[in-house]
Amino acid sequence: MNLYDIAAVTGPPVAQQPDWPDREALLSAAAELAGLPALVAAEECDRLRDRLAAVARGEALLLQGGDCAERLDAVGPETTAAKFQTLGRMAAVLSEAAGLPVTRLGRIAGQFAKPRSSQVEQRDGVELPSYRGDMVNGSAFTAEARTPDPDRLRRVYRASAQTLDHLRTLTADRGGEFWTSHEALVLEYERALSRSTPSGCYGLSGHLLWIGERTRQLDGAHVEFAARIRNPIAVKLGPSTTPDDALRLVDRLDPDREPGRLTFISRMGAGAVRDALPDLVAKVTASGAEVVWICDPMHGNTVSSPSGHKTRRLVDILDEVRGFVEVHRSLGTHPGGVHLELTGEHVTECVGGTYEIRPEDLPARYESACDPRLNLGQALDVAFELASIYAVAPV
Ligand code: PEP
Ligand code: CO
Repeated sequence: MNLYDIAAVTGPPVAQQPDWPDREALLSAAAELAGLPALVAAEECDRLRDRLAAVARGEALLLQGGDCAERLDAVGPETTAAKFQTLGRMAAVLSEAAGLPVTRLGRIAGQFAKPRSSQVEQRDGVELPSYRGDMVNGSAFTAEARTPDPDRLRRVYRASAQTLDHLRTLTADRGGEFWTSHEALVLEYERALSRSTPSGCYGLSGHLLWIGERTRQLDGAHVEFAARIRNPIAVKLGPSTTPDDALRLVDRLDPDREPGRLTFISRMGAGAVRDALPDLVAKVTASGAEVVWICDPMHGNTVSSPSGHKTRRLVDILDEVRGFVEVHRSLGTHPGGVHLELTGEHVTECVGGTYEIRPEDLPARYESACDPRLNLGQALDVAFELASIYAVAPV
């Protein structure tokens, strides 16, 4: 029995699910995926867990990054190679400065579903369902595009398989290792790609699966799903997280206290990280859990530009990373790395950087389907800043 079958017999509340108009078509798409080859191998997930255990012990760093939301029409050799190369260049800069290996983990080959703060979007007096990522519906503001379409699960599977193939070629060419991750949000997709193995059940849609800030309810279906699979799991922790929430997540998701199993992704915002994080880290550490801590300096720092674009300022992003590292250094714990939204292309979505993007530049090349990403230059700016923060000797 894989988790696709288990879904029928368990029923905790499920947050952030689309309102699929045709449940039967959804179940038939899921059943089809359940019969197709898994996208990644269970042994690969185990190997990533080992790499993350090294991060938990303070012997390595984690660099996780990629699109906020992948787009089916943008999946292809150029965008995949651009993200792969950007993460590779960033990892090289950081590894050299920190004197530690850097594990590269893409938000890629499955990052197609988005939680939304509002179910609906209104424009000029018209109200339609919100865009929930290309796994669910289309971003165009028409009733047709916004209707959830289960055939998108099949298209996401094919696009992810193609991206993974390409990543495997790139890794074979360049050497090294590269892992995939996404938010495990649409549970029909995740359960359909879960597989039983002699060492337990795995979610084989990607190597690491994470639970977002909006779906980390302890009694919810996303935590339940994550508790049942053997993959490395991450959970986003926003500023409202209490130490008790974090401790219960540890008990639920890492009952055996296995280093590398659980990663906490702190996403507090530059203004809150220095106040909100210390208590969480101190209490989790005191409990004896060996989790990986990384910083997502993107999702707590989203602002609106005068032109109405959702954007993020590089200065806030860097400030949150500095705050995160300061907190860990003052507690004697390991600041394990970062989680970023980035692309290897020259988009104009975030503000600042050496080749400065100003607020008035945002409309020039704003292509994200969801949140603003760092462009290539800004990603390298962050890498050099990380290098100076993590440097064993002054750079
Ligand atoms: C995301 O990573 O794109 C996201 C929605 O993050 P969070 O769950 O932290 O808000
Ligand atoms: Co995002």
